[in-house]
Amino acid sequence: MCNFRYQSTEYAGVSKTKMMKELFERPQYQTTTPAYEQYAVEHTSPETDLMQQLIRETHLAVTTPGMLSGLLQGRLLQMLSHMIQPELILEVGTFTGYSAIYLASGLAPGGKLHTVDNNPEVAHIAKKYISESGYEDRIVTHQGDAMQVIPTLQGPFDLVFIDADKENYLNYYLTVLPMVRKGGFILTDNVLWYGKVLNENALTDKETRGIVAFNSFIKEDTSVEHLLLPVRDGLMMVRKK
Ligand SMILES: C[S@@+](CC[C@H](N)C(=O)[O-])C[C@H]1O[C@@H](n2cnc3c(N)ncnc32)[C@H](O)[C@@H]1O
Repeated sequence: MCNFRYQSTEYAGVSKTKMMKELFERPQYQTTTPAYEQYAVEHTSPETDLMQQLIRETHLAVTTPGMLSGLLQGRLLQMLSHMIQPELILEVGTFTGYSAIYLASGLAPGGKLHTVDNNPEVAHIAKKYISESGYEDRIVTHQGDAMQVIPTLQGPFDLVFIDADKENYLNYYLTVLPMVRKGGFILTDNVLWYGKVLNENALTDKETRGIVAFNSFIKEDTSVEHLLLPVRDGLMMVRKK
């Protein structure tokens, strides 16, 4: 994973155990106190058995299970999708299918979700759980580099979820914005990036730079309304005017 290169440099000199813990557990940046977070989780609809299995299988299969959106954000994506009732969703970054399944649950009848990922090693997990979710007919998976795949898709999209390589966030945004209908939404994950957006020293890493460039661009973009929601690792919500 691209994070490995960056973090292994950043933590040079730190004990191997600590470094591995930082690398593979990837604790979330605290946007609230752990007690509030726990309370929120306890008062949110729990994961279904299927999603629990997906999470377990993801933990067994990859070294970076922290890439899963997690319960609070998963349920938030589901809630937003039910509110919007989109006919067409685009997701950039399928991983093992977790957020795709939550987003697809709110699609309007006959609606479709297109999801793109360039990692063939986890595609079988996404395929398995998309099939078991019963949304196989709603979710279209695409393998390949998102910047190559997105221009081949037909909009207009009602809802886009960007959750892939951080250095390309602005490229994804600029590519998808014309493909989003007026009044449509773009959600982008990890815009607080474990708090690194607040740390000037972290700007040496291309992922933090990518996220800061994206956040700065959105701040000045008068063609949209935007809300940075400090849930989990930060979710940027954009509505195209
Ligand atoms: C954070 S994970 C997505 C998590 C998923 N949305 C969820 O909530 O469960 C990011 C995914 O983006 C994919 N990715 C990274 N760079 C990509 C690229 N250039 N094109 C397509 N997918 C990419 C990775 O393979 C990884 O599966």
